[in-house]
Amino acid sequence: MTDLAAHPYDAASPDRLRHADSTKWTFYDEDVLPMWVADMDFPVAEPILTALRERLTRSIGYAQVTGDPVLKTQLIDKLERDGLIGLTPEGVSFLPGVVPGLYAAVQALTQPGDEIMTVVPIYPPFLSAITDHGRVLNAVPLTESQQGWTLDMDALEAAVTPRTKLLMLCHPHNPAGRVWTRAELEQMADLALKHGLYVVSDELHADLRYPDAPEYVPFAAVRPELAQRVVTLTGPCKAYNTAGLGIGAMISHNPELVAQLEKATKGIMGHASALSITMWQTALSGGAEWLAETLKYLQANRDFLSEFMARELPDVPYTPPQATYLAWFDLRNHPRAADIQNYLLEEGKLALNDGLNFGAGYQGFVRLNFATSRELLQEGLTRLARAVRG
Ligand SMILES: Cc1ncc(COP(=O)(O)O)c(C=O)c1O
Repeated sequence: MTDLAAHPYDAASPDRLRHADSTKWTFYDEDVLPMWVADMDFPVAEPILTALRERLTRSIGYAQVTGDPVLKTQLIDKLERDGLIGLTPEGVSFLPGVVPGLYAAVQALTQPGDEIMTVVPIYPPFLSAITDHGRVLNAVPLTESQQGWTLDMDALEAAVTPRTKLLMLCHPHNPAGRVWTRAELEQMADLALKHGLYVVSDELHADLRYPDAPEYVPFAAVRPELAQRVVTLTGPCKAYNTAGLGIGAMISHNPELVAQLEKATKGIMGHASALSITMWQTALSGGAEWLAETLKYLQANRDFLSEFMARELPDVPYTPPQATYLAWFDLRNHPRAADIQNYLLEEGKLALNDGLNFGAGYQGFVRLNFATSRELLQEGLTRLARAVRG
């Protein structure tokens, strides 16, 4: 395990974090330790802060609202390094966040009454993007085994119907923490090819991979013959802890597809803010060192958490995430499984995300955000263990 002696992130303390601007730290009473909303209790990278200060010395009138060309080039170069080659600026469009991209894809690529397939458990806005506007959720559970969470390809194949139009993927997966392997992605791509599906791949967590994860392959790179039907969504907010500055991108080898998403949300999408553009540019040009350091700390936290769970709560099924700073615990065997989130809140003074929001059948699961100081993580896990044991 990494030696974390006197790491600056150890300084994260409730007194500093509980400011009125933070949803995570003000939603519950002060005696509750919040380990739910997916942002980090760490300061933003210094190069980003410096660039934002400098940006504020100039006009903050309309920035490049039709798509900042510098950021487009930087992003295309970055995605190429990730293995997504052949993108053009016309195939990139900025958004005020990644969730708007999920909704835009649903609006543009399907009609009310169409089925949209995804795997569950899943980040809740996938579900609401499907059902909020009259589309039909076709949810296929992941398989849980000793090896972790895997795709059930037979179940996915069996669930496709003539009304299924779109497949929504989360890669790496929130909340299971999986980086899907090339073989798994090929199977998903083949399913989409066979049934003529569009695919949206939310790859927002891609830069939060641990060294022991499988090789990361962007979904759109897997089957070139499918790329014309794939939209990739990404953004800087998970890797660089900048969710409050809202920006994302929808990307495709098929600019026409991107134009369709733009058209479906024309006038209601809003543009990425001037500061968010500066922030993402700087994350891409000068954020690598901060990200590497942060990942080291997160990996050490993940390993600490895994050791804690094996030692203190060995009966709680959990597999270490390959990416993300999110841990997904199965507490369905607990006597209070029916209201586990509330039980942990009331009895444990610990705020976690409730599994029931991640899909039907996930009552009894909880998600814990371990992007905090080692001390707060230890405190949170101690509260969890105490409450679970009763
Ligand atoms: C998979 C995934 N997509 C999108 C989001 C949110 O993105 P944004 O805040 O840019 O809308 C999150 C946040 O946790 C997420 O986990």
